[in-house]
Amino acid sequence: MKHIHGQRAARPAGRPVGIVGASGYVGRELVRLLDGHPALTVASRMSSRAGVAPEPPESELEAPLAPLDVEGFSRLQGVFLCTPHGAAAPLARAALAAGCKVVDLSADFRLKDLQRYEQVYGQAHPAPELCAEAVYGLTEHAREALDAARLVANPGCYPTSVLLALKPLLEAGAIDARAHIVADCKSGLSGAGKTPSAKTHFGAVHEDFQAYGVGDHRHAPEIHQEAGTERVVFVPHLLPVFRGILSTIYVTPSAGLAASDLRAILATRYEGERFVRVLERSMPKLSDVQLSNRSLIGLADAWGQVVIVSVLDNLVKGAAGQAIQNMNRMLGIDEGAGLS
Ligand SMILES: NC(=O)c1ccc[n+]([C@@H]2O[C@H](COP(=O)([O-])OP(=O)(O)OC[C@H]3O[C@@H](n4cnc5c(N)ncnc54)[C@H](OP(=O)(O)O)[C@@H]3O)[C@@H](O)[C@H]2O)c1
Repeated sequence: MKHIHGQRAARPAGRPVGIVGASGYVGRELVRLLDGHPALTVASRMSSRAGVAPEPPESELEAPLAPLDVEGFSRLQGVFLCTPHGAAAPLARAALAAGCKVVDLSADFRLKDLQRYEQVYGQAHPAPELCAEAVYGLTEHAREALDAARLVANPGCYPTSVLLALKPLLEAGAIDARAHIVADCKSGLSGAGKTPSAKTHFGAVHEDFQAYGVGDHRHAPEIHQEAGTERVVFVPHLLPVFRGILSTIYVTPSAGLAASDLRAILATRYEGERFVRVLERSMPKLSDVQLSNRSLIGLADAWGQVVIVSVLDNLVKGAAGQAIQNMNRMLGIDEGAGLS
């Protein structure tokens, strides 16, 4: 964004998109990233409920939040849904009826099995008729479907970090088909959203570290569905940092293979990718990816296992950044626009 004498230079309006849930962590991240988008303009930042008075901006750099305006969807070309699951699906239905392309960042359209959705999320699916057409938007693995999609289920943050590393290896048969795969994942606190709870407020996490959701975290069925196997043992942990996910994944390689072979498979699969990079020698760390749409993957041999470390920023490649990649593709815009 260019500034002239401290003021923002006017940018020609791009294609209008709206954000529902723009007051949340992911919605605000979308606002931040789309501010520099060459072809999209955020025409509407909606908060949660219809009828809630717009909040006045705190400074001239902030645009006001508007109440939810479903009728106004018809003036938009794309809608990003950054609301909790359950709330997103009916909004997706309304936005599609208004002719918008929709990226849903909640979990409403990620699971293809409706019974599984009901078990995991404790409610009947609010828009079951849309589930079949929703494209699971792990961008680097779904481009053709994304180009033709109206509705994208943006992947969860943990699943993105695990699947980017595992999918090519499973597809290549490079992981022993009998062995479990352990995905030991750690996330910054922003993964839990903006509302503090007894487990996530500063006093509960500062200088502490814990596992949670062991054996029943909602991202496990999503990882299993997309990996095509339930052999992935997914254990999430809460890190006392704000952003970033570091997933340490332990795999038993197929007979005769070592980390160098698995690295070669991943490097070939992601050759030329703008946002996924496979490291040659070192292991990636959170600060390599925070605030960016990058995903970095490192591998090493360790006593018969191959240890894979996959890092990304949960709010960017794990949410808003990948959502922009997906919306760009659906609207026929360069996939990386707004993300460099
Ligand atoms: N945080 C992450 O790292 C991450 C990563 C990937 C995906 N996601 C998913 O993205 C979505 C948003 O996550 P978040 O972390 O941004 O959550 P958040 O900080 O709690 O924000 C939630 C947003 O949804 C709005 N909202 C709440 N109830 C609503 C309703 N019934 N109808 C419409 N809007 C409603 C809230 O508005 P008000 O505050 O004005 O009520 C707020 O803007 C969630 O589904 C989450 O699972 C999050």
